[in-house]
Amino acid sequence: MIAPVLIVFGCLCLMYCIWWLWTVVIYHLLFSPIQQLPGPESDGFFATQLRNIMEPEISPMFHDEWVSKYGKTFRVYGFGKFDPRILSLDPLAMSHVLNYPNIYPKPWQSRSLISELIGNGLFSAEGLPHRRQRKVLNPAFSNQNLQALAPIFTSKAIQICRTWTDILGHADEVCVDVSHWMSRATFDVIGLAGFDYEFNALEGESNPVYVAYREMFQVGLDEGFTARSILEVYLPFLKSFWPDQRTKTIKRSHEIIYGIGRELLKRKKQEVDTAPASPQGPKDLLTLMIRSNLSSGITKDQRISDREMLDEINSFFFAGSDSTSLALSWALYLLAVNPDTQERLRKELTSLDDDVALGEIDALPFLDKVCKEELRLIPPVHSSLRVAEREDVLPLSSPVTLRNGSTVTQLRVPKGTCVHVPVEGFNLLTEVWGPDAHRFNPDRWDDLPPAARAQPGLYSNIMTFSAGPRACIGVRFSIIEMKIFLFHLIRSFEFVSRERIIKHNVVLTRPFVRGRRKSQLPLIIRRVS
Ligand code: HEM
Ligand SMILES: *[C@@H]1O[C@H](CO)[C@@H](O)[C@H](O)[C@H]1NC(C)=O
Ligand SMILES: *[C@@H]1O[C@H](CO)[C@@H](O)[C@H](O)[C@H]1NC(C)=O
Repeated sequence: MIAPVLIVFGCLCLMYCIWWLWTVVIYHLLFSPIQQLPGPESDGFFATQLRNIMEPEISPMFHDEWVSKYGKTFRVYGFGKFDPRILSLDPLAMSHVLNYPNIYPKPWQSRSLISELIGNGLFSAEGLPHRRQRKVLNPAFSNQNLQALAPIFTSKAIQICRTWTDILGHADEVCVDVSHWMSRATFDVIGLAGFDYEFNALEGESNPVYVAYREMFQVGLDEGFTARSILEVYLPFLKSFWPDQRTKTIKRSHEIIYGIGRELLKRKKQEVDTAPASPQGPKDLLTLMIRSNLSSGITKDQRISDREMLDEINSFFFAGSDSTSLALSWALYLLAVNPDTQERLRKELTSLDDDVALGEIDALPFLDKVCKEELRLIPPVHSSLRVAEREDVLPLSSPVTLRNGSTVTQLRVPKGTCVHVPVEGFNLLTEVWGPDAHRFNPDRWDDLPPAARAQPGLYSNIMTFSAGPRACIGVRFSIIEMKIFLFHLIRSFEFVSRERIIKHNVVLTRPFVRGRRKSQLPLIIRRVS
C-alpha cells in the first residue's frame, strides 16, 4: 500500500528537480539568447564577474573597457556560466527596465532579506501594494513640507559644529571619524523628521531605540549576507525552529522598534484627530502620512495599515540614513583632497549670514555644483539589480552585434534573466562624460556634453537616485540635508585628509583606510580663522 505512494511521490520530486534544473540552470546555460550577447570571457564554470562591476575601486575602469570592446549592452556572468546577466549602459534600455517595475521587479531573494529587517514598506514592496503606499507617501515629501523640515537639518548641523568645536578645544587640529559622526547626525535627522523622536545620537549613542536600529542593521547588513542567511531565504522555517544569533538579534530589535513605534503612532493619531492641519502644526513624515492616509484623494482600499506605516519609517531609516551620511562624508573627503575647491566653496558660503533662509542656501550655484558632482562621482548606492519576471523585449538605442554576427536593435529577454542597474556606471562612463569623467570637477556642470544630458536619472541626468516609479522618494530631502550640513560645516572647519582612503562596496559605497577592516573616514579638522 505504501510503496505506490512513495513511487508517485519520488517521481514528483524527480520531475520537480528536472524542471528546476531546466529553468534555473540548463536553459540559461545553453539556450538563453543572453548567451548570444558579446561580453567578457569567463574564467571557469563557477567564475563570477560581479566584483569587476561592483567594486568601486575597479568598476569605472571595467565599465569603460567593456563598453569600448562590446558596446553599451553586453553580457556578464553572475554566479557562473549558467547565470548570464545583462549589463546595459544604453539609456533607452535602462529607462525601459526602470519604467516597468512590474516586468522587472527587484529579485525576491534580496527583497526577502530586506523585508526580514524592515518589513514590507515602500522599499521592499512590489506591484499594487507598492503603488498604493507610494501614493500615500508622496505628499509627505512635497517641496513645501521639506521647507518645513529644514530647521531640523539646521539644528543638527549646528549641534555637530558645536560638538566638534568642543573636541578641538585649544588644539590647532584634531582627527575625527567623519563618516561615523555623519551617520549619528543623519540618524538623529530621520528620527526627528520621520516620527518626531529624539535619539540624541550626536550627544551619546545609548538611546535603546537607536541601539536597536544599529544592531539590526549591523547583523542584517554590514556583516554581509552570510551563508546561513542566504540558506534561510530558501528555507525560512529554519528561523523559527533553529534561530541563530542573527535572527535573535533582529527579533529583539524589532520588539523595541515596533514597541516605541506603536506608542508614537497612537500619540500622533490622537494629535491628528484633535488638531486640524495648520501651518504651525507638526511636520514630521509620520504626521503627514497619517493625514495623507485620511485625505479624500485616497480611496478606501488604498489606505495603509498601522503595521505598514511603521514599516515605512523603517524604510526611511534603512534607505535614508546611511545613504545621506555617506554622500556627506564623501563630499567632505573630496573637498579635503581638493583644497582649492574647498576654499572656493567656503568663499561662496561665507558671503551669506548665519541664519539664512533655506531658499538662499539652495540657490548657491557653487554649492549646488559640488553636491551634484559628489553624487555623480561617488554614488552611495553603487548599483542595483532587477529580474525579468516574464519574457520581454528590450529596446536599444545603440544596436548590438550578437556572437552569431547578426545586428539587433532590440533584445529578447527570457524570464528569470538578471539585469544589472549600473548606477555608478552611468555616472562615470568616459564615452558620455568626457575624458575627465573619473575626476572631481564641479565646473563640468556649467556645460555638460550632449550625451550626458540624454542620460536617464531622476536627478540631473545622474543615476544616483535611480529613475522611474521606483526611484528614490527622498531625493530632495537628502539634497537639502546635504546642502545645509555642508553650509555650516565648511564655514566652520577646514578639512584635510592624511590617510589613503579607499572605496569598498558593502551594500553601500563606504570609505576605508587601506589595510583596516572597519569602515571609517578619518579627516583632520581645523577651525576656520
Ligand atoms: C544621498 C542620499 C540617497 C541616495 C543616494 C538614495 C538612493 C536611492 C536609490 C538608488 C534608490 C533605488 C534603489 C533600488 O532601486 O534598488 C532609492 C530608493 C528609496 N529611497 Fe533613497 N536615497 C537617498 C536618500 C534617501 C532618503 C533621505 C530617504 C527617506 C527619507 C530615502 C528613501 C528611499 C525609499 C523609501 C526608497 C524606495 C522607493 C520605492 O521603491 O518606491 N532615500 N534611494
Ligand atoms: C542569431 O541569434 C539571434 C538570437 O538568438 C537570432 O534571432 C538570429 O536569427 C541569429 N542570426 C543568425 C544569422 O543565425
Ligand atoms: C488609514 O486609514 C484607515 C481607514 O480610515 C485606518 O483604518 C488606518 O488605521 C489608517 N492608518 C494609519 C496608519 O493611520
